[in-house]
Amino acid sequence: MRIILLGTPGGGKGTQAKLICDHFAIPHISTGAIFREKVKEGTALSREISSYTGTGQLVPDPITISLVEERLTKDDCKNGFLLDGFPRDKKQAEALDRIMNKKNKQIDFVFLIDVPKEMIVDRILGRRVCPKCAESYHIKYNPPKAPGHCDVCGTALIHRADDQEQIILDRLAIYNQTTQPILEFYETKGILHKIKGDGGIQEIFSQLNEIIEKVQKKLNRK
Ligand code: AP5
Repeated sequence: MRIILLGTPGGGKGTQAKLICDHFAIPHISTGAIFREKVKEGTALSREISSYTGTGQLVPDPITISLVEERLTKDDCKNGFLLDGFPRDKKQAEALDRIMNKKNKQIDFVFLIDVPKEMIVDRILGRRVCPKCAESYHIKYNPPKAPGHCDVCGTALIHRADDQEQIILDRLAIYNQTTQPILEFYETKGILHKIKGDGGIQEIFSQLNEIIEKVQKKLNRK
């Protein structure tokens, strides 16, 4: 199963991606997470990536597309994957189509998690992440068991560098400019599903899961 999760910054893509990937045993490929790992390497490429991610700008397509293509050639993607945060513009969507065509595969589901703007800033400002294992929390909606510490490895939680109010607003503005053409692109293919993202974490996961199971049942009957 090959899935794309689209949605505003802070809309819950990473949270839902983790639940779906655990449930269906497919790898979670987040371009944001790939970039955050690359930035830690301290190379010239790290500095270039960080000059974009640190200000909420999109990393240029040639860098992004080649990193995604490289990731999709790994063995664990043979039976499916979930892309979180990619594609983000029309050029990336077209490049993904070319990558899939080369492999003779197709994307099965594109989900748009639609969250009202007023909820987004609250979700992002309350997010805390583990700098060691990248586990993500929310101080109100998904708190760690021991306040301020990661449930998985115990490390002290931090704010993400780009989770500051002005950068959040810039990320939202960029999202609004670049995403509409992608929605049309996947709507035409008949694989776009819009999900209301203003409910609780489990409630949204149930909606996603229900659609996946319904489509799969239909395909199995053919
Ligand atoms: P990326 O890491 O993809 O960031 P983003 O798209 O801004 O999305 P977020 O990670 O902020 O949010 P999310 O939707 O995953 O929400 P989450 O589940 O954490 O990208 C970072 C940067 O990398 C970009 O700005 C760009 O520079 C670069 N980049 C990435 N991809 C690129 C690409 N393709 N091309 C070019 N550049 C690219 O949830 C947020 C919070 O809300 C959490 O605290 C969570 O616990 C909480 N929460 C989640 N769901 C709920 C719920 N239902 N109710 C209450 N709280 C909830």
